[in-house]
Amino acid sequence: MPHSEPRIDRRVFLGTGALAASLACSTTHAADLNRAATNATPGARDRQDKVAAHSARKDFPVLIGSANALPGMQRYYANLQSGGDPLDVAIDVVKVAEADPSDTSVGLGGLPNEDGVVQLDAACMYGPWHKSGAVACIENILHPSEVARLVLERTDHCVLVGRGAYEFARAHGHPHTELLTESTRRLWMEWKESLSSGDDWLAPPAGKSQAGRPLQARGGVAGDPRPKRSTGTIHCSALSTRGQIACTTTTSGLAFKIPGRVGDSPIVGAGLYCDQEAGSAGATGRGEASILANGSFAAVELMRQGATPLEAGLEVLRRVVRQAQRLAIRQGEMVDEHGLPSFGLNYYVLGLDGTFAGVTLKQGGEFAVADPVGGPRLLPLVAL
Ligand code: GLY
Repeated sequence: MPHSEPRIDRRVFLGTGALAASLACSTTHAADLNRAATNATPGARDRQDKVAAHSARKDFPVLIGSANALPGMQRYYANLQSGGDPLDVAIDVVKVAEADPSDTSVGLGGLPNEDGVVQLDAACMYGPWHKSGAVACIENILHPSEVARLVLERTDHCVLVGRGAYEFARAHGHPHTELLTESTRRLWMEWKESLSSGDDWLAPPAGKSQAGRPLQARGGVAGDPRPKRSTGTIHCSALSTRGQIACTTTTSGLAFKIPGRVGDSPIVGAGLYCDQEAGSAGATGRGEASILANGSFAAVELMRQGATPLEAGLEVLRRVVRQAQRLAIRQGEMVDEHGLPSFGLNYYVLGLDGTFAGVTLKQGGEFAVADPVGGPRLLPLVAL
């Protein structure tokens, strides 16, 4: 498995680091490292050897993410509380959804592209190093978030795509896995049969889909004959007991997308971003809008300038609305009859002081959080 290989010395990556040397002499830091060493991956231990230790705070640690991160938070928040590495814990959280065939937005059972092939995007970022890793359009690999972490830890690259990403994952021991389930194959076939009356595919039986679910509503906006497609995704940002920040986002992307389409999730600044000086943010929803807004980067930059997580998230959404209205001049389907975005988009924003917010373009929905105040739970998203 990926972390059974010998450690790579990352001193060259971090520079000579007087800071790291002084921290190595700190008995507080040594105690922290001992505590965190349980369950830590070699990559995590490597990171912990060289990053600044903050003194433990009562309001730390914190996890924030999309609602589908709750089961993972329930399982892994304790690891963060006992001094676990924030990148390891964030990835452990999202791997629960990646392996869950009932979550059609990510990993196994994620909805496929228009050819019926599941293509996944994922990225992660580690604040203390200011380094990211990502894979895009990767096929037949169950845990793209882990592969993204390997790109971060085991290469000096930021992104691998397609076949290269797959071969890289296989070289690190990830097994070849069929990600299309019988349920998602049926949903894909239903979508294909519903696309047009001008092709040779007859419409599926009326009323109920072959997959046992109601047929998807047609049209994102009034009068649009095209089937509405879902965007899903899972994001998780983590703040460790010592104030170290990290994040990850992983997805199967826009359902029935054009093969090769890359959404916001593996794009640093769009689907996720963290900065050890300012905070962390991540997105779920319509990836193109998040790419065009560079929304996660914008949220973190706004916090750097003094905004709270809530103010930062809402300001990014205001920009998204204005940008969608401009784009609608060329591409009408981006807004509804009221001139508001016809797509959904959420941001999950985490400040370095442990404050957080979950914001959304439309009313409704929840986000997941875990902190010392209430443990892992769902909270309502704040709508623009
Ligand atoms: N936010 C996921 C995607 O659009 O691909």
